[in-house]
Amino acid sequence: MRSRLTIIAQRGTFFSSTKRCFASASSEKDQICELAASNIRFGAGSTSEIGADLREMRARNVIVFVDPNISHQNLPCLHTLLDSLSRNNLNVHVYDKVRVEPSDVSFKHAIDFMSNLHSSVGLDAVVALGGGSTIDTAKAANLYTCHPPPDGDFYTYVNPVVGKGRPIPGPLLPLIAVPTTAGTGSETTGVAIFDDIPSKSKTGIAHRRLKPFLGVIDPQNTAAIPPEVAKYSGLDVLCHSIESYTALPYNERPKPQSPLHRPAYQGSNPISDVWSLHALRTAAKHLSQAVRHPENVEARSEMLLAAAAAGVGFGNAGVHLCHGMSYPVASQVKSYVPPGYDGVDHPLVPHGHSVIVNAPSVFRYTGRAAPERHLECARILAAARDDRGTRGTLDGMTKGSNFLASPDDAGKYLAQEIRHIMLDLDVPIGLRALGYDDDDIDELVEGTLPQHRVTKLSPRPVGREELEILFRDALEDG
Ligand SMILES: NC(=O)c1ccc[n+]([C@@H]2O[C@H](COP(=O)([O-])OP(=O)(O)OC[C@H]3O[C@@H](n4cnc5c(N)ncnc54)[C@H](O)[C@@H]3O)[C@@H](O)[C@H]2O)c1
Ligand SMILES: [Fe+2]
Repeated sequence: MRSRLTIIAQRGTFFSSTKRCFASASSEKDQICELAASNIRFGAGSTSEIGADLREMRARNVIVFVDPNISHQNLPCLHTLLDSLSRNNLNVHVYDKVRVEPSDVSFKHAIDFMSNLHSSVGLDAVVALGGGSTIDTAKAANLYTCHPPPDGDFYTYVNPVVGKGRPIPGPLLPLIAVPTTAGTGSETTGVAIFDDIPSKSKTGIAHRRLKPFLGVIDPQNTAAIPPEVAKYSGLDVLCHSIESYTALPYNERPKPQSPLHRPAYQGSNPISDVWSLHALRTAAKHLSQAVRHPENVEARSEMLLAAAAAGVGFGNAGVHLCHGMSYPVASQVKSYVPPGYDGVDHPLVPHGHSVIVNAPSVFRYTGRAAPERHLECARILAAARDDRGTRGTLDGMTKGSNFLASPDDAGKYLAQEIRHIMLDLDVPIGLRALGYDDDDIDELVEGTLPQHRVTKLSPRPVGREELEILFRDALEDG
């Protein structure tokens, strides 16, 4: 008979021998966590209020960021926004050269445009209408326009190890972020992500001052979203919520020298847990409908709310290995061009795909460090399958049971539930489907190792050896 093991094991009981490396040498643990609030307005038609908001703020000159796809199709969301701005007599300057999956080059292009415009007309506010690519580009342009680094070095504010990670020295122009995808939660976060071509890695800029002044969440803006975009941005929401809920707890991180040095990504904590779990339940319930039935306004609205809630959760707790490993998967893409991404003229792996492709492999590995949390996530996903009339409880486990045959089982259950979702949504499984093979493993590992900001939040530590195993696992099976 197999022996049974309760899952009340403490986090960390099953850690491997790999040492966790933090920048601070302090052995004292942090005992404090905080929620940096995000301002959000939600509701159909909320985009048409933006002009009045800006007028109220006494803005005159406004820059609007959009991507070329939204601009060339002149989607109703753009029309609604521009109409609202012109009704309020604002001078509007549109930047429509945002790159889908931005890079250092595309960020610099946007920064030059906005800086030159600001020098000539004096801008008062920024509006970003689009997915994470657009909102992140607007954040970066706003930052470098307001606080150009004295030596002109673009890497001044970029996360270490790629950049210098200098804190942002003062406030930026108010940014109103209007998401048109239900995914990144960028409208709530102080993060801007880009592909750094010289270092062949994806990295970003992270600071509370990058947080938008207001996120306007309008379900009318996702009406025209292609199913593939809805799918991959929705899978990003799932990973944000699960990773932030299973991240290393905040009180297992070293104590910072001062509150100013407490990272935005603090590790899982009682406040972010509320947001992450709510986001997971909501996304698990509505993702499939939102992808298959874009006319279902309730499903689209709920997915937008889930994306924002997950953004508040991970914006304060952080994400870990699925994201850490996604960055080289995205930046080392060879020739993969995703179906359904209209107007994209370069190979790319959609962000949500680059993340979910690693998820089964990651959670099989991390499960033993926090079995109760992995099991809870698996149960939420299984319950949503029940609602969709497919299958019921976790395979081989009695409903409500809190016993596992092995500490690794919680991660296996979660991986299995994620595979069900991927199959249900026709997501190609495994890295081979994206053009990677065994010869790429070393480079993928090299591209993950510098992602300390997120990899150190893995509930179970990883080093080169573990990452190699994880990527090999993700090649076939995800
Ligand atoms: N800042 C953060 O907190 C954060 C978090 C996660 C991811 N990201 C980043 O965000 C980027 C991904 O953003 P995304 O997934 O939102 O997609 P995206 O902005 O890259 O857009 C994807 C595609 O969808 C199209 N599109 C967007 N909205 C549409 C609509 N309503 N109708 C029709 N087409 C539409 C775009 O034109 C584009 O072709 C990545 O670079 C990722 O790294 C940022
Ligand atoms: Fe993400």
